[in-house]
Amino acid sequence: MHKKIVKRVARHKLAQFAENETFAHMFYRSYEELQKGFFLKGKWKQDYFKNDYPITLELGCGKGEYTVGMAKKYLKRNFIGIDLKGARLWHGAKIVQQEGLKNVAFIRTKIDQLFSFFDANEVAEIWLTFSDPQPKIERRRLSSPRFLNVYREILVPNGIIHQKTDNRELFDYTLEVVRHFDFQLDYFSYDIYSDRKNGDAVEIQTFYEKMFLKEGIPINYMEFRLNDKFADNDLLVLPQKD
Ligand SMILES: C[S@@+](CC[C@H](N)C(=O)[O-])C[C@H]1O[C@@H](n2cnc3c(N)ncnc32)[C@H](O)[C@@H]1O
Repeated sequence: MHKKIVKRVARHKLAQFAENETFAHMFYRSYEELQKGFFLKGKWKQDYFKNDYPITLELGCGKGEYTVGMAKKYLKRNFIGIDLKGARLWHGAKIVQQEGLKNVAFIRTKIDQLFSFFDANEVAEIWLTFSDPQPKIERRRLSSPRFLNVYREILVPNGIIHQKTDNRELFDYTLEVVRHFDFQLDYFSYDIYSDRKNGDAVEIQTFYEKMFLKEGIPINYMEFRLNDKFADNDLLVLPQKD
């Protein structure tokens, strides 16, 4: 990229980071701060949303299209978008500010830290929208047992996990995990736009999704629930492949 463009992009990002700091609906805590505890953990409904509606997380939300789109559609539910990248989160957070939405928040954090932000049974649903497929490093996949162990800590019993992805390998991997642990698979489709004409899975499209759709790539979608066959202290682990 030309030097001038690089500088302009860097300035733009700095402005977005600075504005993120001013949003009352955007949260960030350093690792050290999290060790002292997060003030909304276990209290999101009572102290932040000030209602008793269920909370849905969008993990790896990027610009937060699902978080914002569902918040506008379901006024009696709460939505929190989570991603590492502040410049992406800014887009969703800006819409929330401009439209005065009250049932939305964003957290800039690694998903690995979710248990620092949420207490047991605090989350009703999770959406994984176009997660990085991580073909080489299984433990980085957001549907790997390593992350499911974290989700299990914060989800209500029978809480739903939605996965939407262009990546067939990642989708098949998640199906394998669901079958291995005998989770309840409520629905799956290898081409959601052929199989469903309405509902959240087709009515909201993310930034990445629009690019894949332009290329004619079919979009995979599934809904599953972690069952309670495992004791709380049993870690989910897949057998190692040779
Ligand atoms: C391919 S993008 C998809 C973004 C958005 N969901 C969409 O569909 O447009 C994947 C996103 O996941 C985020 N991400 C990946 N691993 C993460 C992790 N461990 N913690 C937080 N965010 C993560 C990345 O920063 C990136 O924004």
